[in-house]
Amino acid sequence: MVEYARAQAATQRLDNATFRVMDVLKPLTFPDNSFDLVNARFLVGLMPAAAWPKLLEECRRITRPGGIIRLTEFDEPGLTNSPAFEQWKAITFSATRKAGLMTAPDGRHFGITPVMSRLLIDAGFEKLDRKAHVIDFSAWTEAHETMYQNCMVAFKLVQPFIAKMGIATQEKLDERYQQMLIEMMLKDFYGLWYYLTVWGQKPY
Ligand SMILES: C[S@@+](CC[C@H](N)C(=O)[O-])C[C@H]1O[C@@H](n2cnc3c(N)ncnc32)[C@H](O)[C@@H]1O
Repeated sequence: MVEYARAQAATQRLDNATFRVMDVLKPLTFPDNSFDLVNARFLVGLMPAAAWPKLLEECRRITRPGGIIRLTEFDEPGLTNSPAFEQWKAITFSATRKAGLMTAPDGRHFGITPVMSRLLIDAGFEKLDRKAHVIDFSAWTEAHETMYQNCMVAFKLVQPFIAKMGIATQEKLDERYQQMLIEMMLKDFYGLWYYLTVWGQKPY
């Protein structure tokens, strides 16, 4: 990821961009009050539900007074008309729930977007605002190819985690995975991916 980020920065001539690797579940090795903007995106799949307040406390510490924190998360990786895609989501959310990640009470999605504002308020941020986004990745759209590639990689990488949680056998996961890729390639595949950005200011 860091090599990729460095390559992106170089091609965009962002000479003042630097990248460092840290564990988001541990204290961050940045000084207090050091950033105008702290931006965090798509952490829900790795954050234990109970770890969010501690992380936001850390984000508050490293943001300067008057600085902004911005979170972007999603409840599910898309609403589709593909039975295999939808089944894959159900399997994944059973695993995330068992692993103690943020999951809605009925286990049907992450349930993170409704609580993002509360997390920021409880961490001491104010002047909150939010913006919803949607990507249409239906078969005929520009985003389809990119989302297909994303799903091909992401749904493969998550397989060992699901197997480890004892939700499905590797054989069943492989079969559903292949079927999902086939259904995503159908000319009448429909998919929408909603996500939410919430931001707030650290008081002066
Ligand atoms: C879904 S990706 C999001 C990446 C990026 N923020 C984005 O929006 O494109 C999650 C990333 O977090 C990394 N990760 C997983 N656990 C982590 C941890 N404990 N500390 C820091 N990074 C972690 C994964 O390796 C992966 O690169």
